[in-house]
This record gives sequence, C-alpha cells and structure tokens, in this order.
Amino acid sequence: MKKVLVAGASGYLGRYAVNEFKERGYYVRALVRNHEKIKTPGSNMEPAIYNIADEIVTGDVTSPESIDGLCEGIDIVFSSLGLTSPDLKHNNYDVDHLGNKRILVQAMAEKVSRFIYVSVFNEDKMPDLPLIRAHELFVADLKASGLSWAVIRPNGYFSDMGRFFSMARTGHMFIVGEGEKKMNPIHGADIAKVCVDAVNGDCREIAAGGPDIYTFREIMEMAFLVCGKSTWITPIPLWLAEGALMGIGLFNRNLADLMSFAVEAVKFDHVAPAYGSRHLKNFFEELAIVQK
Ligand SMILES: NC(=O)c1ccc[n+]([C@@H]2O[C@H](COP(=O)([O-])OP(=O)(O)OC[C@H]3O[C@@H](n4cnc5c(N)ncnc54)[C@H](OP(=O)(O)O)[C@@H]3O)[C@@H](O)[C@H]2O)c1
Repeated sequence: MKKVLVAGASGYLGRYAVNEFKERGYYVRALVRNHEKIKTPGSNMEPAIYNIADEIVTGDVTSPESIDGLCEGIDIVFSSLGLTSPDLKHNNYDVDHLGNKRILVQAMAEKVSRFIYVSVFNEDKMPDLPLIRAHELFVADLKASGLSWAVIRPNGYFSDMGRFFSMARTGHMFIVGEGEKKMNPIHGADIAKVCVDAVNGDCREIAAGGPDIYTFREIMEMAFLVCGKSTWITPIPLWLAEGALMGIGLFNRNLADLMSFAVEAVKFDHVAPAYGSRHLKNFFEELAIVQK
C-alpha cells in the first residue's frame, strides 16, 4: 500500500484530499496543527477526518523541529498547506514558501516518488501579490528539486463562495468593482479528485475550475436567493478599495497582503478548464440547512 503525506489536512481542500486518497486505497499520514479541529466537519461541510486518516501527526511548518521525520516512509507528498487567514506572526512567505520548502527538503531526502502541490490559477496575471509570489517561489523550488511533481492551479473553492453566503445571510454585501468578471469555482471533493488523479503521469501543471461559470455578481445574487433575502449589494470602487488597502498596510502588513488578493482578483476573469460535477447552488442550499 502506498503511503501519502497530506500537508494542510485540516483545511478545506486537505480534508477532501485525505478522504479521496483513502477511498483510492492509500495509507494516509495527515499533518495538522490541532487534533481537535478535525474531529468535526469544517464550516463549509468539509469532512471530519480524525477517523479517516491512518495516522495523524501534529506539527507547525514554521517550527522546523515540530516536523522532524514528517516524510519518513512516505511515497507521495500532497500539500495544500498555505496561509489563508491573517496571522499576527507569519506571512505567506513564511508559510507557503518556507514552510512547504521544509517539507520538500524532507521529501527529497526520502526520495519520494511524487510531490503534488496546490498553488493558484491566473498566477501570471497577479505575480506581485505576496500570496502568489510565495506560492510561485515554492513552485520554482519544487521544479528544481529533481522530484517528480505536479502543480494544481485551482481558481476558487466553494469554501470561498461560502463567505459570500455568510454575508448574504446578514442581508447585505459589499462588492469590489461591479462584479462583472467571471469564474467557475469548484467543490472541495471535485478538486481533491483532480489532485489525486495527478499522482500518475508526467510533471505538469493542471489548471482547474468547476462545471458552472458565473459572474461574481451572479454568485452573490444566488446566495441572497437561496437565503430567501432580497439582493442588497453595495459596490466599492476599485480606487477606494486599493486606498483602504494601503491604509490597512500601514498598521497591519500581513492583513493587507492577504486582502490584496481579494482586491486584485476582481480585475480578471478566472475561468479555468472545467472539472467535477458539483454545483454551487446545491452547495448554498446545503449550507442553508446546516447553518439554520
Ligand atoms: N480557497 C481558495 O479558493 C483557493 C483557490 C486557489 C488556491 N488556493 C490555495 O489552496 C491551498 C489550500 O486552500 P484551503 O482553502 O484548503 O486553505 P485552508 O482551509 O486555510 O487550509 C490550509 C491548511 O494549511 C494549514 N496550515 C497553515 N499554516 C500552517 C502552519 N504554519 N503549519 C502547519 N499547517 C499550516 C492549515 O492548518 P490549520 O487548520 O491549523 O489552520 C490548513 O490545514 C492554499 O495554499 C490556497 O492558497 C485556495
């Protein structure tokens, strides 16, 4: 039985990846920071994996000694480990680049047969964003490592759309710009299949989105509809959002860096090759039931 390390196993995609690897017969070692977190489903209905993974190891990639021996006996590494919410002590460079690099160094010493990494779609359109820069620094290290690799480039998960849903429940949403750009977000279970499929094959980059294309505004309108609320969206002009970002950056650089992705992303379409079968409307309907 092949052994896979899933790094980022307590996250939205990581939990589905643990599930998918197990369903395909792998032995799964899950890296988490907190055992308790994975005993219950996540806020976007991603599965509780405490009783699914074969082995759970606790570690924080910003503390090298806490991840000693992480790749021992491992055949395949999958990492969706990344910084997606504000952290007072660390930034994307510390986690997405240096943290994943610490895992890569161990994977190289262990001569794993494949390393699958989750970066971001449209990276070439937003190269100067700290989040993208950190991911791509790691991608460059991975490509130079001599290991067999795959880089998955998702455009946006349903978990991010879940944020729109939570805002819709309050009855009001802000939108940066007019919301006319398009995207096809993907469910965690569907993107996990893409990731596990990437175990076999050549070194390659796989851009992936979901089956349905919407404008940002259409996604928001759908969220209001499913909540049973009337649509109330206030547009924020781009220049104002960018100015606010600069102001926030004066007090909290890490927060501004993370928020800069949201402000930059609305400037482009994010339509990636379509995978999966799960629909956003069904996801919102399920969220409406669990959040009741
Ligand atoms: N969300 C999207 O729409 C989207 C789209 C494209 C690409 N991506 C990329 O896909 C990846 C996964 O996204 P996601 O939405 O699944 O993120 P997520 O839910 O925030 O999961 C991130 C995972 O990384 C772990 N982690 C963070 N810092 C860590 C550290 N210092 N040591 C050990 N583990 C650490 C988290 O652990 P904790 O649970 O303890 O925090 C969690 O397991 C990210 O790199 C993200 O940039 C996301």
